[in-house]
Order: sequence, then structure tokens, then C-alpha cells
Amino acid sequence: MPSVHRSQKYGITFSSLLVIVAVTAWAQTEPADQAEASLADSYASSHKTIEVLGRLLFWDPILSGSRDTACATCHHPDFAYTDGRELSRGTGAIGLGPARVDTSNAMIPNVRRNSPTVLNTALNGVSNGGVGGGTGPGLSRQNTGERAPMFWDNRVRSLALQALEPIKEFEEMRGPDYTKEAILAVVVSRLEEIPTYRQLFDEAFGAGSAITSTRLGEAIAAYEKTLIAINSPYDQFLAGNRGAFGAQQQRGLEAFNRVGCGGCHGGLMFSDYDLHTEGVPEHPALDQPDPGAGRFNFRTPTLRNIGLTAPYMHNGTKPTLLDVMQFYNQGQSENPNVANPGESSNDPVMVGLDSTFTTVLSMSDSEMADIIAFMEALTDSNFDRSIPTSVPSGLTPGGSIQDVVVLERN
Ligand code: HEC
Ligand code: HEC
Repeated sequence: MPSVHRSQKYGITFSSLLVIVAVTAWAQTEPADQAEASLADSYASSHKTIEVLGRLLFWDPILSGSRDTACATCHHPDFAYTDGRELSRGTGAIGLGPARVDTSNAMIPNVRRNSPTVLNTALNGVSNGGVGGGTGPGLSRQNTGERAPMFWDNRVRSLALQALEPIKEFEEMRGPDYTKEAILAVVVSRLEEIPTYRQLFDEAFGAGSAITSTRLGEAIAAYEKTLIAINSPYDQFLAGNRGAFGAQQQRGLEAFNRVGCGGCHGGLMFSDYDLHTEGVPEHPALDQPDPGAGRFNFRTPTLRNIGLTAPYMHNGTKPTLLDVMQFYNQGQSENPNVANPGESSNDPVMVGLDSTFTTVLSMSDSEMADIIAFMEALTDSNFDRSIPTSVPSGLTPGGSIQDVVVLERN
């Protein structure tokens, strides 16, 4: 196998790239040659080695116990780096997004939450002095980088640490064959056996660097940091260019702040990254209630690219933005474990609603439509949608996402 050198990668021209891709498609080549092709694509030619490595790892199902699930299985560019499902489905399933179906005979359940986008997660915690400012139970102001909050309950900090969690989760990537304690070492030893990964880790972290789970997380984080999409019509409007941000969007922005959305969805990312109790209903498919960070607290999600990431809320129970608006307009808990104001309960530990939620003003239909138009103007569709042509393991990039036809015939 030809070695993977930086100069070779950067020196590649567009026409030789086309030849490599074409030859790969025609000749069904060895995994090593396929890896060459994915290292020569347009992403690889314009990014640092650690980012290229992270992207290949993100797409490589070798990170899952049964080699069928990659990060990209649930964070796919076709769904703005979500999976478009109410609740995610990981290992022991085939197909992409809402079409993904269980093949484990219900041995492996749904993931208990909705897949958030990976776009802009490098900016998690940037509250930018939003009204909420992030000073509540969730975190203090400006928790970025190593302190950046991750997950719907902020339970893990930093992209690099987050990246190891799905690998350890039974229903996400680990599956039935390995224990939580063993899986990371198994994955690391698999990577060590693949020469392309050994070379890429050497290039990214220095020659002779061992492959470790820490570096695995760091490489994936470096890639995720390239997935930024913050040049929406709203941002262009702020920069003085009206573009698609018209009168309705401006009315929506004013209404958004007037009725109290900005109290939690403030700042650059339209999130205080703090925890709040809103009484979102439980998902009917789950056997246990989801208490979030405790007391049914969930993190305020960013509203950037919200027009692309339905369904909504931590468990996908709100199919459209209009459903979300009607939920706020009701201002009522829809969760039996969360009491409404003034509601008496026999349960002494019953949790109440966040007061910033209950004080959102009621809205007319046209105000709700304006706010939706404003939120849709927070979309930057110009994010990287590229998919590696191959990954160093020789497995299918993204895992079992293309295998739907097989099941139909069973
Ligand atoms: C089976 C589907 C699935 C797979 C596979 C998966 N994720 Fe996720 N991801 C989710 C779900 C669901 C959540 C939210 C979980 C929670 O809040 O408890 C999430 C959360 C995240 C977050 C936090 C986003 C935020 O704003 O808080 C990041 C980042 C992320 N995943 C990256 C990854 C990476 C990297 C991998 C691969 C190592 C991966 N995911 C694999 C479904 C998946
Ligand atoms: C009390 C703080 C707070 C206020 C006020 C608030 N939100 Fe939220 N928002 C949240 C939290 C927390 C969630 C996630 C709740 C969950 O999943 O349990 C959320 C979820 C959402 C979602 C779904 C995002 C996704 O990725 O699934 C949208 C859209 C949204 N809010 C818009 C609004 C609008 C519009 C307003 C004003 C009418 C508003 N919010 C007011 C905290 C708030």
C-alpha cells in the first residue's frame, strides 16, 4: 500500500482525484486503495490531518461493537447532522433516518432521546450575554471548549469527551458483544491494526504516538469543529445585507423577544445552554419517564438551523415548529411528572414548571407564523455535506444505512 504523506495529499489535482474515484468505483479495490481515495477527496485536500482523521472516524462503523453503526448513522448531512427521527436508533438496525428499522428482534431498544445536530456544537456554551446568561443550575457564563456542555442534560463537557460516550452506550454503538468497560480498548486495538489509521494518528499527533481513546475523541472533536453553519439570512441581515430576511422575519424577531423566547434562547447561539423544566410530554415508546438532568430539566437547544432538524424537543415529541409554538402558547406542562402552576399534587416531590417558561406571553396565529419565519431565517444550508467515498476499515461509510432493500426481501 502506498504510504499516506501530507505532501501527496495536498499535491493532488482535481483531475487525478476524479481518476482515483472512478477507478475505485470500477475495480472494487482493496480497503487500502479505498482509503487512498477517501484521503484524496476535496475535504481531505483542504483540511488538517487531524480533521481528516476525525472525519474518517466519524463515518467509520469500525467504532461500533458490531461494525454496523457510525457517528454519521445518527448525525447525517442529509438531515443536517441529525437523523430526523423522534428517538434515535443505533446498532442492530438498518437504513437511514426515519426509514431505519430494527433488525435485532427488539433485543436492542431505541435510544431514549432525539439526536441533536452536530452542526455548531463547537460553539456550545457560547451564551454571548444572552438574557439568561447561563448562570442557573446548568452552568456558568461562557463555558466553551473544554467546559462546553454536551447532551440534552449537559452531563458531559467538551466535544472530545462526548465522542467516547456513544461508543460505550449499548443501544447506540456498543451492542451486545462487549462490556462498557472493554469496548474502548477493543476499538483502539481495531484501529491499531489498520495501517492507514496508524499513519494518520502519527501524522496528527506526532510520529510514534500510540492510538488512545483520548486521541480518538480529540480527532473526532477536531473534525466536528469544522462543522460550522452560522451564516444564515439573519446573520447576513445583521451584516447589513437584507437578503432573505424580510418584513415578516423582522416582525418575528421582535415578537420572539417581546413574548419572552429570548429569555432562554438568547445570544449568538440562541441558547443560554442552561437547564429548564418545560413539561415536554414523555415519549409513548419509552417504558420509563426521562427526568433529564434531574427534576425533568433539559438544556435549551440552539435555534440555529432549527428549520432543518425536525422533529423537536429532547424526545422528538413535537413534529413541527408550529407544534412547538402551540406548546409555548398553551404554556402548560404536558408531562404527568411536572405540575402546572397552582396545581395541587399528592406527590410531594412533584416538580414545577420553570417560571421563564410560564411567563411566555400568549401569541396570535400571525405572531406564531412570524416567529416561525424568523426561526427559519436562522438556517445556514451551506454546511459541509460531503461523505467520504470510503473509510480505512473498508466497511461502508456510515454503517448499515444503505441496507434497506435487504430487509424488504426478508
Ligand atoms: C444511535 C444514534 C447515535 C449515534 C451512533 C451517535 N449519536 Fe451523537 N447523539 C445521539 C443522541 C440521541 C444524542 C442526545 C443524547 C442525550 O442527550 O442523552 C446525541 C448527542 C450528541 C452530541 C451532543 C450535541 C449537543 O449539542 O449537546 C454530539 C456532539 C454527538 N452526539 C456526536 C456524536 C459522535 C461524535 C458520535 C460517534 C462517536 C455519535 N454522536 C454517535 C445519537 C447518536
Ligand atoms: C424557560 C426557557 C425557555 C423559554 C422561555 C423558551 N424556550 Fe424554547 N426551549 C427551551 C428548552 C429547555 C427546550 C428543550 C425542552 C425539552 O426538550 O424538554 C426548548 C426547545 C425549543 C425548541 C425545539 C428545539 C429542538 O432542537 O428540538 C424550539 C423550536 C424552541 N424551544 C423555540 C422557542 C420559542 C419560539 C420560544 C418563545 C415562544 C421559546 N422557545 C421559549 C427553553 C426555553
